[in-house]
Amino acid sequence: MVDASNLAEGLQALPLPLLVASATGVVLLALIALRVLGNTFHGKAPPVEEGLPFIGGLIKFSKGPLPLMTEMYAKHGEVFTIPLLHKRMTFLVGPHVSPHFFNATDDKMSQTEVYDFNVPTFGKGVVYDVDQRVRSEQFRFVADALRTAKLRTYVPAFKQEAEDYVSKWGDEGVIDFMQTFSDLIILTASRTLLGREIRESMFKEVADLYHDLDDGMRPISVIFPYLPTEFHCKRDAARDALHAIFAKVINSRRASGVKEDDMLQVLMDSRYKNVYGGRGTTDAEVTGLLIALLFAGQHTSSVTSSWTGYRMLANRKWFEAAQEEQRQVMREHGDKIDMDVLNSMNQLHLNIREALRMNPPLIMVMRYSKEPFSVTTSDGKHYVVPKNHIVACSPTFSHRLPHVYKQPDEYQPDRYAPPREEDKPMPFIDLGFGGGRHGCMGQSFAYLQIKTIWSVLLRNFDFQMIDPLPEADYTSMVIMPKPCRVRFVRKKLQI
Ligand code: HEM
Repeated sequence: MVDASNLAEGLQALPLPLLVASATGVVLLALIALRVLGNTFHGKAPPVEEGLPFIGGLIKFSKGPLPLMTEMYAKHGEVFTIPLLHKRMTFLVGPHVSPHFFNATDDKMSQTEVYDFNVPTFGKGVVYDVDQRVRSEQFRFVADALRTAKLRTYVPAFKQEAEDYVSKWGDEGVIDFMQTFSDLIILTASRTLLGREIRESMFKEVADLYHDLDDGMRPISVIFPYLPTEFHCKRDAARDALHAIFAKVINSRRASGVKEDDMLQVLMDSRYKNVYGGRGTTDAEVTGLLIALLFAGQHTSSVTSSWTGYRMLANRKWFEAAQEEQRQVMREHGDKIDMDVLNSMNQLHLNIREALRMNPPLIMVMRYSKEPFSVTTSDGKHYVVPKNHIVACSPTFSHRLPHVYKQPDEYQPDRYAPPREEDKPMPFIDLGFGGGRHGCMGQSFAYLQIKTIWSVLLRNFDFQMIDPLPEADYTSMVIMPKPCRVRFVRKKLQI
């Protein structure tokens, strides 16, 4: 280390002209450094769509983020800002301007400010109610429950639930995929995430409480999560009831000493390492994390399963390609469906992935800029996004950019396979599961679950759409297909 008194003595010993010259040099160097840093932090801000003061952006936003993005992208390109009441929201469109958004650490691009409307739903003490250090430990517990060895144990439950569910169908009938998959996903998730006790004895009660929680999450809840509305009151009552149910289940499991193969068990057995003095999880934390995971996986997976069906049937050759793949798999493995068998189903995987590209359930992912950061557009324009902006990336909009995907409005599952590999040129092209630092932790779980369910369907039924391909309902929190009738006929796939 430099000793200050030695430095002062040294400076006094210098002849005056040399001292003045040295000081001038230091000032010049400092000015150059400031200039360089200044360029980094005070570059050109993104174009702002000013409009009516204070409420201008809100009026545009209320017509839906998609029309807003379409209009602003045409006018300003890949980066633009709209004022939203007292806040500013900057949109980053496409992979060229997205890396910082997805890669930056939480102290630079924070989730808390934009996602804390979830706190009354998940409950206190978990996820967006805790600081980043605690949250990353809680996500470590989740990651433990979603590692490959655990996922392998979930597959038989997915298969069992799917087979039991369709065994109650007649020989033919009419269904709506969204309804069917919502039912199926909550069944499979209950068994693998919430645990055997809930699935076997309290399923209806817990599913109804989940419904009240879900119904309490409306667009207005994002801005005013604590507004004393009827649906918020029901949400709060449902969350408290779920906490009471899980406390009982956890206590009786702890008392029995029996360990189960599910997410509940992993969360119950988890311990913090670097916070809270290394204690184990509380019942309230376990419940809150389970609710958060249900929210993360339920609509997203049922929407993706539904669009996979609708898109395959509207482009029947891809439905037939998936059937043909099932025949090949069954010739090799018989009726067996396990993780390795699922991983060999490449065609089904591509069909799901392409459905997710065309209809990602999350229209926007968001962060809050804690520091300014610079972006460079595909045509070389530089902008500095100021700090304290809400920053948004849209999988929905980015997935339809013609300079990124060829014929983006067409369902072409082979775009991801060689030789096309359209997701390969750069990172953050494919955003269905987000990416980077906060990419989806449930991606493998979701693929295994959706592939198992679709394998059971493809092996036992034929489907025809009665209505045209449904439109997406952009008014819901998670973008779902509008109602659409599908006829099913029970028909064993001939190998
Ligand atoms: C097709 C189904 C799914 C889709 C499309 C999906 C999509 C996403 C997306 C886009 C993100 C990133 C959000 C952001 O950047 O702000 C995300 C994060 C996350 N997802 Fe999923 N998800 C799915 C299923 C699941 C499932 C089944 C689980 C759990 C079992 C899950 C757990 C999570 C978690 C814990 C995060 C937060 C990761 C973090 O912030 O570090 N997801 N998901």
